This record gives sequence, C-alpha cells and structure tokens, in this order.
Amino acid sequence: MSEPAPDAADLIAARPCLSRHAMDGLLMEGVPLAAVVAAFGTPTWVYSAGTLRTRYRMLAAAMPGIGIHYAVKANDHLALLAVLAAEGAGADVVSIGEFHRATQAGIPAHQIVFSGVGKTGEELEAALAGGVGQINVESAEELALLSTVANRTGRTARVALRVNPDVDAGTHDKIATGRAGDKFGIPHADIAALYAEAAALPGISLAGLAVHIGSQIFASAPFRAAYARLAALVRELRADGYNVEAVDCGGGLGVPYQDEPAALPEAWAGAIRAELGDLGVSLAIEPGRWLVAPAGVLLARVIRTRRLHMPRPLLVLDAAMNDLVRPAMYGAWHGIVPVCTKALAAPTEPCDIAGPVCESSDFFARHRNMPPLSDGSFVAILDAGAYGAVMSSTYNARPLAAHVMVDGTDMALIRPRQDMAALWEKDIVPSWIAHD
Ligand code: LLP
Repeated sequence: MSEPAPDAADLIAARPCLSRHAMDGLLMEGVPLAAVVAAFGTPTWVYSAGTLRTRYRMLAAAMPGIGIHYAVKANDHLALLAVLAAEGAGADVVSIGEFHRATQAGIPAHQIVFSGVGKTGEELEAALAGGVGQINVESAEELALLSTVANRTGRTARVALRVNPDVDAGTHDKIATGRAGDKFGIPHADIAALYAEAAALPGISLAGLAVHIGSQIFASAPFRAAYARLAALVRELRADGYNVEAVDCGGGLGVPYQDEPAALPEAWAGAIRAELGDLGVSLAIEPGRWLVAPAGVLLARVIRTRRLHMPRPLLVLDAAMNDLVRPAMYGAWHGIVPVCTKALAAPTEPCDIAGPVCESSDFFARHRNMPPLSDGSFVAILDAGAYGAVMSSTYNARPLAAHVMVDGTDMALIRPRQDMAALWEKDIVPSWIAHD
C-alpha cells in the first residue's frame, strides 16, 4: 500500500518558510539549505526565526487579551526562546531547568507558569525564589508541600489548581492528558473541596484554575468541553465565596504534518471565549507545538540506498531516532523532501526511509514517494521544530546534532554538533577497575 501524497512540491508550498530555487534548491527563508549543510554538516536542526515571529503574531492576533505562555518543552533552545521573548511571550515550564532556560533567554519570571505532576520541594523553592508568576498545582500532596515550602521561606505562591476534566482530546493515546485515567491534574469532582482547603493554607494565594487536555488537537469540541467544565467550576467556586481571577487554558493546538486541514488559532480562541469569555477572569494559553513545529527542519544525508533483496529501496540516513524520535515513538508522519533542485523535480518511486540505529523502530517513513537520491545527497525532514531536538538522546553513541538559525538571508550556528569526546568525558572508571 502506497501512502497518499502530498508530494515534495505540495509539502513545500504549504510551508511559508520553505521554497524551491532553480539553482539553490530548497531554501529556508533566504538561505539555501545546501549552504547550511556545506557549512555545518549533518544531521543538523535548522530553525526559521521569521516563522517563529510570524506564528507568534498570528496567535497573538487571534487571542487579544489572552496571555501566551510558550510551552518550553516543545523546544528549549535559548535562541528560539529569545525570539519569542522579544515578541512578548511568557513561558510554561515543567522543571526548574526549563524555568532557568526561560529566564536566561529573557522571559521575565513573573510571566512564567510552572506546571507538571512531579515538582520537587527543591524545584518549588527555587521557582519561588526566582519570582515565578504562577504554579499550576496538580495534586493535594503537591499543594501541601508548596504551602510548607512557601511558609518556610517567607514567600507567597500564586497558585492555580490543574483540573483533570475527564475529556478525551481525540489525539494519540500517548499525548492525551485530560482523561480520568491520565496522571495529570486533579479530578474535577475534587476541585471544590481542594480549593477550599487551599484557600486556608498559609503561603498560598489562590488565583484560579488550569487545564491541559493533550497535544496535536484539531477539533474545537474537546477544548470546548474542557473549558465548559472549568467555567462551571469557576461559577461554583465563586458561589461558595472563593476568589477565582485566572484560568489557564493549556496548550494543544495541532499542526498539519501531512495534509490535515490546519487547526486555526481563531477557532481555539472561539472555544475559549465561548465558554470562559464572560466570567471576567484573566485568560492564558500554553501553546508549544503550534508555535515552533513548522519553524524547524532536520537536515540529513543519505548514507546508502539499499536496493538489493529489499521490497522497496531503503534509504538509510545519517539522522536517526536518537535525533527525532517522533516517528518511532508515536508513528508520527513527517514530510521528507530532497534539498537539491534536480531531485526536487525528478519522478518519484516508493521508498522506505530509516536511520542507522540498531532498532527496528528506527524508521522515518515507509512507502514514501521519493525521487532517486544518490548516496551523499541531502534531505530535509519537515516540521521538526517541536519535540525534536528536546527529545534527542545519544543512543548508539551518536553525538547530538548541530543547531542553526536562519533569519532572512542570515544564518548562524546556534549550537555546535556535540564533540565525540563529550560522549564519555563525564564517565568515571573506578580506580579499582584494573587498567594498565
Ligand atoms: N501545557 C502542558 C501542561 C503540557 O503538558 C503541554 C504538552 C503543553 C502545554 C504544550 O502542548 P502543545 O501546544 O505543544 O501541544 N512529545 C509529544 C508531545 C507531548 C506534549 C506534552 N505536553 C509529541 O512529540 O507529539
């Protein structure tokens, strides 16, 4: 069975930062990706600063009056964070490491929300000391710990309780977070009682509620269902005399990787306003993927094409699941297009595309229509800006790939390829292991 198109021309046409040039091949903004490969080798992540700005502005225009806290987990490179910080973005972080990355990149601490099911006492203390804007508490146990930490350090934590609304976002099982059995948030039926407890706790200033039902969501209905649940809770809590001034609506807006109809920020904003717009609460969102996925590609070299004894040609790339794990982990579809002009125009044949890692799941695509690519030619794996580099590992002793940012006709190396020696420089061989 052959995968349906889109072909390379469709994929490029649907991505504003990419274009084909008769001489220079595939361009990101004004930079030929062949020039990036020539300067920095492969595998290399390349990010478009212009796309980050454009998408941030599109989102902000669709969400007037709604705070945008970029979900740092999607891509935590300081250069991307700095571009978004300059646009006025706040941040949603899930570890103290992400908190420090965000502040390091210029995002003010008071615009940072700290989410996550497993915040440690040390992390909570450091975030409070660093002036974090809000902590989205996910359990009664975390609330008690936070109160103790805040009280002991003489600080007040601004808190939202994360609600588990028991809503199925209709997305991949591994990235759904709002169903009753998921580990995230406090069951909506328990919120009123915990809110009352929280209101009486020292060191806690209750701001409101938060929710996040999952990622790569295209339909408005699950968002609406979750926000309706939160709106009902806001009304109930207020009727009980509690202050509810803020609702954090989470992230999750999907991006088309293949040829899915685009999810529109306006539709998401509509769902937020329809359910929560008349409550007089301050509203915020935590988008990750939608802002950064289309702003990045992963460049790779074709190491070898195996034709003999194979059902289809198998292209083995020098990028692998240790670089971009999404296809292996979620069966995710990523567009793959040639970098050079001649290949961009050539007739295609169905191929399989894999990395060199010793796992059968190390595949980027199966039955993918590709032009004949000679060994040593280059491809770009598309929409790799979100949940790409951040999920990389050095499995199979493969150094972490280089990172480049383009902006107009400029390109800059923003993280060199990891040195081979860095792979073992922190390894300690105990002296009692014989070694002569
Ligand atoms: N807020 C919270 C509390 C989250 O857990 C997440 C994502 C977001 C916001 C941002 O969601 P987004 O707008 O990016 O959908 N590695 C997976 C995605 C995991 C998402 C985890 N949480 C993937 O590659 O598809």
